[in-house]
Amino acid sequence: MTGRICGTGSCVPSFAMDNNDIAKLVDTSDEWIRERTGVVRRHIIREETTVSMAGEAGKRALDNAGISAEDVDLIIVSTISSNVILPCTACEVQKELGADHATCFDLSAACTGFVVAYNTAVAYLNAGVYQTALIIGSESLSNLTNWKDRGTCILFGDGAGAAVLKKDDTRYYLPVTHSNGSRGGALTCKSRYDRSELSLPDLTKPDEKEYLMQMDGREVFMFAVKSVPQVIREVLEKNDVAQEEISYYILHQANKRIVEAIAKRLDEPMEKFPVNLEEYGNTSSASIPILLDELNQEGKLERGQKIVLAGFGAGLTWGASIIEW
Ligand code: COA
Repeated sequence: MTGRICGTGSCVPSFAMDNNDIAKLVDTSDEWIRERTGVVRRHIIREETTVSMAGEAGKRALDNAGISAEDVDLIIVSTISSNVILPCTACEVQKELGADHATCFDLSAACTGFVVAYNTAVAYLNAGVYQTALIIGSESLSNLTNWKDRGTCILFGDGAGAAVLKKDDTRYYLPVTHSNGSRGGALTCKSRYDRSELSLPDLTKPDEKEYLMQMDGREVFMFAVKSVPQVIREVLEKNDVAQEEISYYILHQANKRIVEAIAKRLDEPMEKFPVNLEEYGNTSSASIPILLDELNQEGKLERGQKIVLAGFGAGLTWGASIIEW
């Protein structure tokens, strides 16, 4: 017994900034950003919020699955950048959708968050606790971005993606996840309780940067290209699945060079590694479900295909799961 994804949805802000817009804020260029990251544009919230995007992505996923909100009994939202602390984002989504029978909670595992949400939902379904789950990754990273730091502001974007899981008799694949808090200093952001405006922060205040993302880009890059192939091999081995059986590797969309390096280390063709980060940048826990939704809407996924989901990011955290479409 396990859960199968039976619907997907996504929602990104309508406003977008391309690399030339970023070059007006910091000393960089379209060429540099494309070459080093693959990012061309990123969508940035205006009227939208983490909650509103999560609700819309969730609604679209339910429509896609043909499942009524009343039938959902678990909602998990993965986010590190919500506009609400209480009630949690998942409860706000419940209210928005009218999913009155659902148990709702948020989880925080940065860019590994959607994989952790998937694993949590599947474990509940497998244990027989719930029958139908809605899992969402929603982020407004623009609120945590230091728009004066060219080492980070070129990378991130906002958006949400969602998937509906229904209990069925598909095989249960055991996931593999890891955390290493002692290396957490590579990507940090302190909590801030008093920032209600969405305006850009006052960077003249000496401590202001601490409340925005700070990153050792090279450290994170090296971590990703080493750890992700390892965890993918681990999850395949654990479930006795061969690489040849995998149709797609849907990786967290952080940097095109990271995806290419992972494909190379696994000795797999890039065709198995769909990429959409040129349009959205790194949307943390939203990146995997947005990509999954695009593949689904484009009709590229076929029933029975095995797909690996793999996330990595702050914590440090990383993990991989096998899904059967
Ligand atoms: N535009 C122009 N030049 C830039 C720049 C920018 N946006 N950012 C950095 N540079 C400069 C640096 O100052 C440095 O100059 P120097 O050689 O004169 O000192 C040079 O470019 C190289 O910097 P470096 O940091 O080594 O670049 P890089 O090739 O490692 O690329 C990242 C930087 C951030 C794109 C890359 O490290 C990365 O993507 N890391 C992973 C980050 C990530 O994915 N985080 C989220 C994980 S969930």
